[in-house]
Amino acid sequence: MLGKAPGVGADMVFLDLEDAVAPLEKEAARDLIVKAINEQDWGETIVCVRVNAWDTEWTYRDVIHIVENASERLDELMLPKVQSAADVQALDMLLTQIEQATGRQSTVGIEAQIETARGLINVDEICAASPRLETIVFGPADFAASTEMPVLTGGVQIDDYPGDHFHYVFARILMAGRANGLQVIDGPFLKIRELDALRDYSMRTRILGYDGKWALHPDQVPVINEVFTPTQEQFDHAWDILDAYEKATTEGGAGERKGAVMFGDEMIDEASRKMALKFVSRGERAGMNRSA
Ligand code: GLV
Ligand code: MG
Repeated sequence: MLGKAPGVGADMVFLDLEDAVAPLEKEAARDLIVKAINEQDWGETIVCVRVNAWDTEWTYRDVIHIVENASERLDELMLPKVQSAADVQALDMLLTQIEQATGRQSTVGIEAQIETARGLINVDEICAASPRLETIVFGPADFAASTEMPVLTGGVQIDDYPGDHFHYVFARILMAGRANGLQVIDGPFLKIRELDALRDYSMRTRILGYDGKWALHPDQVPVINEVFTPTQEQFDHAWDILDAYEKATTEGGAGERKGAVMFGDEMIDEASRKMALKFVSRGERAGMNRSA
């Protein structure tokens, strides 16, 4: 699995020390992860390690072992079950000392998982807790356990509920993340073989404004990449809006330049330009080009 990770087409990969590792394997897993980071060619993939949560006995050794022994190719650590800003600050302080002691050149970033009731209540302060924080991530399986939802599968649609049982949570995390300039990422979908259901469920967070979603299996990656990348039509349409708006706001003499103008049957203005820019930058990051 570690060997395949760089080739699956994901923008970011996290190597897990937390819930995917059996307690008796935790210590041995640290060395496997260090070896994978240092010896594999990760290309452009962002490389992250998920350490254990602060309510276990493993976290401090996870952090020290990984960051002292992994090369600069390690980009970030993910902290699960974050409950308060102090959880993030504790990791930040530990990282600062390790970076000083080892002479590491690049700063290790932090991704924080919101997956408990207390974490959600404190999501605003968590998102503002450290300049190292890059990403806020929803963890639906632990969250369902924390809130005592009567479900046995994480992150899937619950047909008995008239609506989306996570809508409030998705929106709450998104607001806190965006208000603090973070990337906002949806967590796992555990029914690995149900790719149509994955596509359908991923659209919820995509439409709300999330940046991406976890994949647990290589087969999930192309579906998620498709959902979170603009279509060619959207990308071209966004470019056309930018062009039309640029023209409207700059062409002509005094009194002729317009801040609101018709674009086909629609009015566009500065807010339309901002919406269009999001599609263009997202598409460009995914390697898209404007159609001829
Ligand atoms: C992920 O960590 C989850 O609990 O859903
Ligand atoms: Mg979890």
